[in-house]
Amino acid sequence: MTEKRRTPEPPVKNLENNLKAIEEQALLYAKDLARVFMERKEQERQLELTKQQLERSARITLLGELAAGIAHEINNILTPAAGHLSLLLMDRANFSEGVVERLELIEQSLMKASSMLQQILDLSRKKPEKREPKDISAILEQSLFLLKYRFIKSQIKVEKNFQHNLPKLWIDDTQIEQVFTNLTLNAIEAMEQGGTLRIATCYHPEKSTKKQPYVEILFEDTGCGIPPENLEHVFEPFYTTKGEGRGTGLGLFICYGIIEKHGGMIDVTSAPNEGTQFKICLPAS
Ligand SMILES: Nc1ncnc2c1ncn2[C@@H]1O[C@H](COP(=O)(O)OP(=O)(O)O)[C@@H](O)[C@H]1O
Ligand SMILES: [Mg+2]
Repeated sequence: MTEKRRTPEPPVKNLENNLKAIEEQALLYAKDLARVFMERKEQERQLELTKQQLERSARITLLGELAAGIAHEINNILTPAAGHLSLLLMDRANFSEGVVERLELIEQSLMKASSMLQQILDLSRKKPEKREPKDISAILEQSLFLLKYRFIKSQIKVEKNFQHNLPKLWIDDTQIEQVFTNLTLNAIEAMEQGGTLRIATCYHPEKSTKKQPYVEILFEDTGCGIPPENLEHVFEPFYTTKGEGRGTGLGLFICYGIIEKHGGMIDVTSAPNEGTQFKICLPAS
C-alpha cells in the first residue's frame, strides 16, 4: 500500500484555527465559571435565608416561652380572683342592681384576659390536641363565611382560587380555622379603604422541594403593606403597630405557633402601599 502524503496546511490557516479553538475554549470556560459563580451565589442566598429563618424561629420560641411563663403566673393570680367573683355573683340577691352590673363587667374583663392567657398557654404545648383528616377548603369557607359582614362593611372583594380534590390534611381544624381567621382579620384591618383579598390553595405532591408532599395556602391582600424593617418582627408575641386597644400583637404569634405545631411553615412577603402575602405550607402525608 502506498501511503498518501498530506500536504501541510499553510501556517496562517493553522494559526486561525488554533485561535478559534482557543476562543471557543475560553468561552466555554467563562460560561462554566459564570455558572459556578451563580450557583455559589444561590447557595449563599439559600444559606442566608435558612440562617435568618432559624434566627427568627429561635427568637419567636424564646419570646413565646417568656410569654407562656408570664401567662402562667398571671393566670395563677387571676384564678382565685375569678373564683371569688363567681361566689359573689351567686349571692347577687344581696347586692343592688348597680353593684351586680359592675361585678358582671369585671367578670367579662376577667374572662377576656383569661382567654388571652389560655391561647398563649395552649401554644406552649408542643402537639396539637386533636388531629383528624380534614378538608382545608371547607375550613377556609367557614372562616370566610363568619367574616362575611366585615368584607361588606369594609368594601373588600374576596377572590378564591381553591384547587379541587386537595388531599385531606391531618390537622386540628379549630386551630387551623383560627389561623385563617387571624390572617383574614389582619387583611381586613390593612384594607381600611377597601381592596381585594385573594386566597389560593395548591397541592404540591412532589417530594423534591420539601421533604414531603404539602399543601400551600396563600393569603394575599392589597392593603397598606408592611415596611421591610417591621417584617421580621410580625410573628413575635405582643408586636403590634395598631393603636392602644386595637391590637394585641398575638394574632400572628398564635398563627406561627399553630402552623409550627402541625409541622408546617408560615412566611410573609410585603410591599408597602401595595399589599401583603402570607404563605402557609402544611404537610400532606
Ligand atoms: N395583612 C397585613 N397587612 C399589613 N400589616 C400586617 C398584616 N398582617 C399583620 N400585619 C402587621 O403585623 C402586626 C402584628 O399582627 P398581629 O400579630 O395579628 O397583631 P395585631 O393584629 O393585634 O396588631 C400588625 O400590627 C401589623 O403591623
Ligand atoms: Mg391581628
